[in-house]
Amino acid sequence: MYYLTYRPRTIAELDNSQVREKIAAILKKKQIPHALLFVGTKGMGKTSTARILAKSLNCLENAFSNKSDSTEPCNTCHNCLTIDTGSSPDVVEQDAASNRGIDEIRRLIRESAFSPMTGNYRVYIIDEAHMITTDAFNALLKTLEEPPKTVIFILATTNEEKIPQTIISRCLKIDFGIAKESDILSMLDRILKNEKLKVDDDLKKLIATYSENSFRDAAKLLEELVMQDQMTLEKAKAYLGIRAKENLLEILHKSDLKESLEWIEEFSSNGGNIKRAIEDMLHKLKRQLLLKNQVISDEKDLGYSMKELMKLMKLLHEAYSNLKVSPIESLPLEIAVVEFYNLRNR
Ligand SMILES: Nc1ncnc2c1ncn2[C@@H]1O[C@H](COP(=O)(O)OP(=O)(O)OP(=O)(O)O)[C@@H](O)[C@H]1O
Ligand SMILES: [Mg+2]
Ligand SMILES: [Zn+2]
Repeated sequence: MYYLTYRPRTIAELDNSQVREKIAAILKKKQIPHALLFVGTKGMGKTSTARILAKSLNCLENAFSNKSDSTEPCNTCHNCLTIDTGSSPDVVEQDAASNRGIDEIRRLIRESAFSPMTGNYRVYIIDEAHMITTDAFNALLKTLEEPPKTVIFILATTNEEKIPQTIISRCLKIDFGIAKESDILSMLDRILKNEKLKVDDDLKKLIATYSENSFRDAAKLLEELVMQDQMTLEKAKAYLGIRAKENLLEILHKSDLKESLEWIEEFSSNGGNIKRAIEDMLHKLKRQLLLKNQVISDEKDLGYSMKELMKLMKLLHEAYSNLKVSPIESLPLEIAVVEFYNLRNR
């Protein structure tokens, strides 16, 4: 899988430029905060960055072991390798979604007091940190106030608003923001270069736009297109159901049932991806909703009323969740389209 093979392993490989610069600055100063809070949506690189940081601090060949001036992890020493494979005794990754209670956190705090066995620091990476219970957060708070010198806690979360303010204020917060198009493009280039593939800029831009600012989604999408041999802009557009974006919503608005059904028929017999098409329509409709309510203005009005927007979104939403149980891939979308037509022409 591209997204695993090309997971960044050095600071330089972090294509998220704002994060890369912050981490590089922290390491350069050698003033390492004892608690960090990584905030960002899925696939933005929180886990990858936490591992790179842990490796850098515990590497046996770099500045932190006085072997060179570089703060990058070498990725070849015993410590780097064991951290990568998750077998280092000093770097613990814990998923708070399944270890959220006071007992688990107490155990973690107790362990953290031991000196590191192989490197400079014990690093605790707590994923989905917002899942930690209130009691457990309180226990953690005491440790964050006076952490042992050789411990670093990295709390990673997609939901900052669920983390108590008292915890946030004791952490150095790093905001992963959203991946800029240029950052995603540089990741795609990194992968393409290694895979010895050449791809038009147009297609790369399409992938960037289509992956909702997530590095992981972009890497997965690139791989999907490579595997399915949809490597030209035209092919990729058809494959992704971009046509739906331009067409089906407009046809539906004209209330032409025959034409709508023909569109779906043609789309699916050409190998179009119905799931993607629905996702795309929902994104478009959401934008219409925001436009109608003056939240945004940079979107063309497709002419649906508020009531129609709501109906259509609900129907498509239902169609989307029925995809998994439907014996015919296009059927949920067809049902949604017919129902919308009926409601409109009642
Ligand atoms: N800064 C980055 N530069 C390049 N690729 C990245 C970057 N961050 C993440 N990726 C890619 O995205 C994948 C997911 O990254 P990671 O698991 O670190 O994200 P995450 O923020 O922890 O996501 P989640 O919230 O879903 O756990 C990586 O395997 C890698 O391929
Ligand atoms: Mg993660
Ligand atoms: Zn190393």
